[in-house]
Amino acid sequence: MSAAPPHIAVPEDASRLPVTLPILQEKKRLGEPIVMVTAYDFPSARAAEAAGVDVVLVGDSGAMTVLGYPSTVAVTTDELLVLARATRRGLRTPFLVADLPFGSYEASDEQAVATALRFVKEAGADAVKLERGNDTSVARARAIVAAGIPVMGHVGLTPQTSTALGGYRAQGRSGSAALQIAQEALALERAGCFAIVFEAIPAAVSDALVPLLEVPVIGIGAGPATDGQVLVFHDLLGIREGRGARFVQRYAELQGEMNGGVAAFASDVRERRYPRPEHGYSIDPSELDLFRSELGALAAPAADPR
Ligand code: KIV
Repeated sequence: MSAAPPHIAVPEDASRLPVTLPILQEKKRLGEPIVMVTAYDFPSARAAEAAGVDVVLVGDSGAMTVLGYPSTVAVTTDELLVLARATRRGLRTPFLVADLPFGSYEASDEQAVATALRFVKEAGADAVKLERGNDTSVARARAIVAAGIPVMGHVGLTPQTSTALGGYRAQGRSGSAALQIAQEALALERAGCFAIVFEAIPAAVSDALVPLLEVPVIGIGAGPATDGQVLVFHDLLGIREGRGARFVQRYAELQGEMNGGVAAFASDVRERRYPRPEHGYSIDPSELDLFRSELGALAAPAADPR
């Protein structure tokens, strides 16, 4: 059982209090790991709620995991809003962060604030996340924070711009590349981000960098030194074909379960094993007689009016 911050009551049961920014900050101070998971719909949100995770991210990874796009690049704000609203309906206590899709925030501060506002007002998100720590993203983060919306940063492997990074590959593996990640993370913190995701960077780089940041760092493929860990829902539950990234740990193999379940249903239907009597509804025998006699009249050909 994890210790609650001294001044914050965190019951273990259904009366668990909603997670807030001060709670996340306190967890960092106490060295209590922050648990974050992605979710994209009502059932995945219910699973996150039941597990008592701290932060739920409606990641633009949903473009691939639930919408079937080849990357996160194409997904639109309207599409992610549908996923965010469904997720919100399944949550009570976790802090809900929504990803700003590629192309929805880069053009101007006004565009970034307008998109962030949509996720807060139309989907009930508590915060938004944007990728990269370059000058543009830092400026957008500052503008969104100034508009009153908490922002989570994301550095290292940033899938929205993976083409420019040379593919889905670990980042910060040279001294200068690691230094650039450090500069970006510190700039995002100075811009007011409440937390930063480190994706696919060497554990030793996280070791050196996390103590320099006052805000919580959530890692994915960034070693154990980060203040919390995040995994994509479909990766951790094995709802996918293929292995996925090196940092993924699978806790279930649901794709096989789902394939097996649908195959068993198909076979039962084809072999007439389903449905069985217990799956049906009854009708009173006198009502059935009435129905059958009236049915005869319905089926009789209509009389010629001439
Ligand atoms: O979209 C996503 O799922 C993410 C996580 C990997 C942090 O950004």
